[in-house]
Amino acid sequence: MTETSAEGQATTTASNAQPNVEVDTSYENDSSYGDELSSYTASLTSSVLDFRHENGRRYHKYRDGSYLLPNDESENDRMDMLHEIYLMVMHRRLYLAPIKKPQRVIDLATGTGIWAIDFADQHPQAQVIGCDLSPTQPTMVPPNVKFLVDDIESEWAYENDPFDYIHARSLSVSIRDFEKLMNQCYRSVKPGGWVEFQDWNGYPISEDGSLDGTALQRYYQEVYGAFETAGYEVAPGPKLEQWFKDAGFVNIHVEKFVIPYGVWPKDKHLKKVGAWFQAQAEANGFEALAMAALTRYKQWTKEEVIALSSQARADSRSRNIHTLFNFYVVYGQRPEN
Ligand SMILES: C[S@@+](CC[C@H](N)C(=O)[O-])C[C@H]1O[C@@H](n2cnc3c(N)ncnc32)[C@H](O)[C@@H]1O
Repeated sequence: MTETSAEGQATTTASNAQPNVEVDTSYENDSSYGDELSSYTASLTSSVLDFRHENGRRYHKYRDGSYLLPNDESENDRMDMLHEIYLMVMHRRLYLAPIKKPQRVIDLATGTGIWAIDFADQHPQAQVIGCDLSPTQPTMVPPNVKFLVDDIESEWAYENDPFDYIHARSLSVSIRDFEKLMNQCYRSVKPGGWVEFQDWNGYPISEDGSLDGTALQRYYQEVYGAFETAGYEVAPGPKLEQWFKDAGFVNIHVEKFVIPYGVWPKDKHLKKVGAWFQAQAEANGFEALAMAALTRYKQWTKEEVIALSSQARADSRSRNIHTLFNFYVVYGQRPEN
């Protein structure tokens, strides 16, 4: 399996090995990071365009309740920040699959559509579809992109008009049945075509135990516990390779990237990624992830969610808590025949 080292270079290591991310103990060199932190063409039925408002946030209404994060402006800004983080982590690459000149492409659960728009700009010959539960994508987009409101956990109708390339990013806490989704992808990609998933390991970790017993750790236990109660997969990243194999894909390739929380790493690239990751969390990220999951499935009050989120936020700012996530990019090919 191919993974990335602390410097972001691909190396081959055992699948569960963690890279050693060295802690930066000299704080004076990175004051700039302190500054950085302060700082469709859908079927237009009314249920698609309608939204649900709850606890000060806006949620999708089509298939009401099936996605537990908001779709308001603040959340869309945060998703676009995450897009920049993924690009940074992947050294400005939108995808890793060895696609040549794909004609028909779909981005599953496209969010703000930012990946689909960038991809369409890079591949003017391709017709790119972005689908999502929310019709929140921009209308001024390249002519070769269109957005659809659709539930990717329902049956698809693409088998008679399959894709050259199917892309899905950051579906952790969104999808209940990834294996079914993977089988749908297999049936809806052309023989010889590629499918790529990019996703999280879920629960954050610390290599030196500094996360243990913190409010930040408790936050993820409570919040991901609520998502698990509701039936969602919170840690798809490490399971993707097996799901690709089980669905019948070949030429499967796995890369694992490190995303630190905050500016504690010594390595400059990881420090920058960590600063951006902390900044997106500061942008209402803790509340966005926790609010509906804890209030709808664990009967927490809004105030309780805000209190836990602010404790977790305080921990995430600490230079002494060395938290990181792993982000997996896995692609595979449907056999030619
Ligand atoms: C964390 S966002 C990721 C967005 C985008 N893929 C990206 O990486 O920027 C998850 C997205 O999945 C969408 N989503 C969740 N469940 C879905 C479903 N069953 N069908 C379609 N979209 C879904 C949400 O509306 C949200 O836009």
